[in-house]
Amino acid sequence: MQIKIVKDKLAGGEAAFEMIKAGMANNAKVLGLATGSTPITLYDKMTASDLDFSNMVSVNLDEYVGLPASNDQSYHYFMNEHLFSKKPFKATYVPNGEAENVEAEVERYEKVIADNPIDIQILGIGRNGHIGFNEPGSPLDGPTHKVALTQSTIDANARFFENESDVPRYAISMGIGSIMKSKEIILMAYGEDKADAIQATVEGPVTNHVPASVLQNHANVTLILDEAAASKLS
Ligand code: F6R
Repeated sequence: MQIKIVKDKLAGGEAAFEMIKAGMANNAKVLGLATGSTPITLYDKMTASDLDFSNMVSVNLDEYVGLPASNDQSYHYFMNEHLFSKKPFKATYVPNGEAENVEAEVERYEKVIADNPIDIQILGIGRNGHIGFNEPGSPLDGPTHKVALTQSTIDANARFFENESDVPRYAISMGIGSIMKSKEIILMAYGEDKADAIQATVEGPVTNHVPASVLQNHANVTLILDEAAASKLS
C-alpha cells in the first residue's frame, strides 16, 4: 500500500484528481465511484477542471433498494448532483434501486462490472472498516449482492427521512471480490473518527472483521489520508 498524507480534504481531492488524470493519460477508461462525504472534494475538482470525461465510463459501488433516482437520499441523486449533471461521461452505471427483481439486478450489475473492468476504483471507508456496503463479516471474495442494512445504519439514516419506516432496509453493493478486481484502488479518509479503521486496514491482520484490510492483498492501492486519519499509524 502506498500512503499519501495530505493537509486536508481539499488537498486529498486534488491528489486523487491528479492520480485519475495520470491514469487517463495512461489509457484508463473506467472509473469506479463512491458516494458519501469523502469523495466530494474530488468530484468538485473534477467538475471544476477542463479534463474531458466524455470517453470515460463510471461504475458506482452501491445504491439503496427501493429509492427512486429522484429521491434526494438515493446514491443516483447524489452522483447526479455532485458529478454527472456537471461533467458528461460516455456511460454511468449505478445499481438500480427500483429493480423489481433485486436478484436479477445484482446479476446484471456484476455483468456490468465484467463488461467494464474498472481501471481506477475510488473508495471511502466506514468507521468500522466497511467499503461499499460490505460490513464486517462480509466475505472477502464476494460478488455484487443484496445487503441487509444493520439496525445502527438504519437508525443513523432515520434523520434524513420523514418516518423511520421510510428508511431503506436493503442495499445493492459491489462485493469485496468485485472491488478487488479493479486495476488500481484509491481510498481516501479524513478525520480522527477514521483513524482506528485506517490503523486496522494498514497494520492489522487481513480479516473480514475489517473489510478494508483485504486491500493489503491488492498490488496497486493508494491511501490518501489527512493527518487525523493517519494519526494512529505507527
Ligand atoms: C459510499 C460507500 C461507503 C462510504 C463510507 C464512508 O458509496 O460505499 O462505503 O464510502 O461509508 O462514508 P463517508 O465518506 O460519508 O464518511
